[in-house]
Amino acid sequence: MESQMDFHTAKALLEWQIELGATEAICDAPIDRYQAPAPKPARVAVAPVAPARVAPVSVDPVAVARAAAAGATSLEALRDAIEGFDLCDLKKGARSLVFADGRPEARVMVIGEAPGADEDRLGRPFVGRAGQLLDKMLAAIDLGRDQADARQAVYITNVLPWRPPQNRDPLPEEVAMMLPFVEKHIELVAPEVLVLMGNHSCQALLGRRGITRLRGHWIEALGRPALPMFHPAYLLRNPQAKREAWHDLLMLQHKLRQG
Ligand code: URA
Repeated sequence: MESQMDFHTAKALLEWQIELGATEAICDAPIDRYQAPAPKPARVAVAPVAPARVAPVSVDPVAVARAAAAGATSLEALRDAIEGFDLCDLKKGARSLVFADGRPEARVMVIGEAPGADEDRLGRPFVGRAGQLLDKMLAAIDLGRDQADARQAVYITNVLPWRPPQNRDPLPEEVAMMLPFVEKHIELVAPEVLVLMGNHSCQALLGRRGITRLRGHWIEALGRPALPMFHPAYLLRNPQAKREAWHDLLMLQHKLRQG
């Protein structure tokens, strides 16, 4: 821009501005900031915020069962713990919790598979046809669930406390989640010997099945002597197997006489 001022006027003006504190010459012409349009606010790019993902809470039923069973210090507390366990779907379809029968002071603890229709109705294990046969088998060696003498009494429970629909086989996950309760049940009753009735009981407590080969041999389960036997329901369907069952009952009697 061509200056309209003479040299001396321009020099005097410059000196006066320096005196006022100006240190830099930026533009050729001054800018009237009061007239200039207000600067547009700078646009700040904001990244879109993804909706927070909530991880589904996964519950491990076996861990929950273990914790619940571990806290039970009596049979009543164990029963309450099972009653309060809601992660096994069998509970929804069952009428009763079938916990146990017989005398907790018994030397023999019988572990069956699961309640059937009669047990579900009455809330006691082995009260249907298979149960009546079991009572007869035990009576043949002077044992019974109602024996006044604790030395001749038995205590009876099942791997599963609720009836599976249509008496179907227990599912492995059902057995896995109820096993901590069965183990605690055995610990609290502390029997001298266990009798494992049928394949499902053997699978749960020995991790093995094949009752035809397992029966008739003492084996260790949870640190206790255990005798696998044919399930009474199997004996009702296969009466010829009663011969082996009788042999196993005599083995049980012999063991108890030794103790
Ligand atoms: N069969 C079982 O295994 N348990 C019962 O309680 C009844 C039948």
